[in-house]
Amino acid sequence: MFKFFTDKPKWYLNAVFYEIFLRSFKDGNGDGIGDLTGLTEKLDYLKELGVDCLWLCPIYPSPLKDNGYDISDFYSIDPVYGTLQEFKDLVKEVQKRGMRLIMDLVVNHTSDEHPWFQEARSNPDSPYRDYYVWSDTDEPYRDARIIFLDTESSNWAYDEEAGKYYWHRFYSSQPDLNYANPAVRSEMLNIIRHWLDLGIDGFRVDAVPYLFEEDGTNCENLPQTHEYLKQIREFVDRNYNDKVLICEANQPPADVVDYLGNGDEFHMAFHFPLMPKIFMGLRTGTRLPIEEAIKNTPAIPEETQWGTFLRNHDELTLEMVTPEEREWMWQEYAPEPRMRLNLGIRRRLAPLFDNNREMIMLANRLLFSLPGTPFLYYGDEIGMGDDVDLPDRNGVRTPMQWEAAEGAGFSTDPQPHTPVITRAPFSPESVNVEQQMQQAGSLWKQMQELIAIRKNEKVFQSNETEFVEHADERVMVFRRSKDKDEMLFVHNLSSDSIQFQVELPVFNDQKFVDLFSKDELRTNGDTLECTLSPFQSLYLKAG
Ligand code: GLC
Ligand code: CA
Repeated sequence: MFKFFTDKPKWYLNAVFYEIFLRSFKDGNGDGIGDLTGLTEKLDYLKELGVDCLWLCPIYPSPLKDNGYDISDFYSIDPVYGTLQEFKDLVKEVQKRGMRLIMDLVVNHTSDEHPWFQEARSNPDSPYRDYYVWSDTDEPYRDARIIFLDTESSNWAYDEEAGKYYWHRFYSSQPDLNYANPAVRSEMLNIIRHWLDLGIDGFRVDAVPYLFEEDGTNCENLPQTHEYLKQIREFVDRNYNDKVLICEANQPPADVVDYLGNGDEFHMAFHFPLMPKIFMGLRTGTRLPIEEAIKNTPAIPEETQWGTFLRNHDELTLEMVTPEEREWMWQEYAPEPRMRLNLGIRRRLAPLFDNNREMIMLANRLLFSLPGTPFLYYGDEIGMGDDVDLPDRNGVRTPMQWEAAEGAGFSTDPQPHTPVITRAPFSPESVNVEQQMQQAGSLWKQMQELIAIRKNEKVFQSNETEFVEHADERVMVFRRSKDKDEMLFVHNLSSDSIQFQVELPVFNDQKFVDLFSKDELRTNGDTLECTLSPFQSLYLKAG
């Protein structure tokens, strides 16, 4: 096969992604539910923040048992979010601003209210029967773990109508699609074509490790699954240009890296193991957990990239840490049982750090300086809070706080689909977009600056990162370079003020500018000396 390579680096290798839970972003028609026209109104806001690519959580028709990840029609948009025309307008407006848009593609399962499942369960002769995985007993695939531990006791659920069990890796209201059936495999390609033809830039592909089942295995990351995912990639490459496929596989690095194949499977994969280590690093005040996670990250093929993140629409999952680390994380970050969910913590970024600005910024500055392409979660750019009294993960999916007014300017409906945060210090009065965009030194302004720096500096075009060895475990120092550009990153992980000194043989009598404070620093011979305030980051540009 012929393939053209241009010098232009692939856009996703160094971009800033922004995840939007549409239902809670901006209500354009006053019915209390965020929608497409609301989002379109806010595109200038996102442009000003500086993000490159928007990721839309599922907006397909859904009974909402799993907040839209339970889909009852893959080919249309739930009318509460708007019309197809409004979607096309959104795509056009996103493109006009030089931004991009990706959507969630839920490959593993449908809603049990999907017409396919309805027909499958009631008519054994229907071609849809074989769209799902059935069994007369709940015996097969015993070695597959249960993911939604708090709610499910088996991966099999009995269906009275069919008189059989059906297979589901998530909620029992989400029957798994049967990928052993070629009709399912080609149906998913049709779905992909349907949305890419509407001009979107790709997909965040949901829950990919579980597509195929096989007895005697844990039914995750099977070769058949990889083979099919490669077919998806081949289909996308053959028919489209410049699209991105991002893999959600909450798995150890060695298994995740397989989803990048030889550059012939996904373009990107989320880096799940790094995320909790950033939280561990900040709480212990040492660089070791983060450095370990980076050092344990395998090399990846050219033109592929990690997606890194601090928070998203799910719980902060602790599946990728040891049981001891998990216990410790729960004690430190989720002292109350209602803050926990499955193997994770259902809280947002700002409350996790007790609303400590220095810690919030350090976490972001770490994320933006380490290898990978960073993903932000809506609302975290202003330090929104969470509501742990809401069920499931709804507490981290509350209405975006645009203004100080009651209701936060999210909707004209006084009773939005889920309540606005009202508790101090996270109520709209103290946390909102309007104020922070005007206020020098606000979290929003700092995030805007960080995004701009990230996009400006050439060193981020490559993933190469070289840690500088030194004795003080509280401080992380690493170097990144691209062509003639050199940067040195110094992060104080601790709450101490530190008189810091480090030897840098490669930077003899070198002048640096810190891109945040604009302060100049110089190595004396090969020694850099600086004062670090608690949780301070320096982005030092050589020159
Ligand atoms: C993914 C989604 C999560 C959803 C699950 C099942 O992990 O991020 O929100 O519940 O898949 O679709
Ligand atoms: Ca609405």
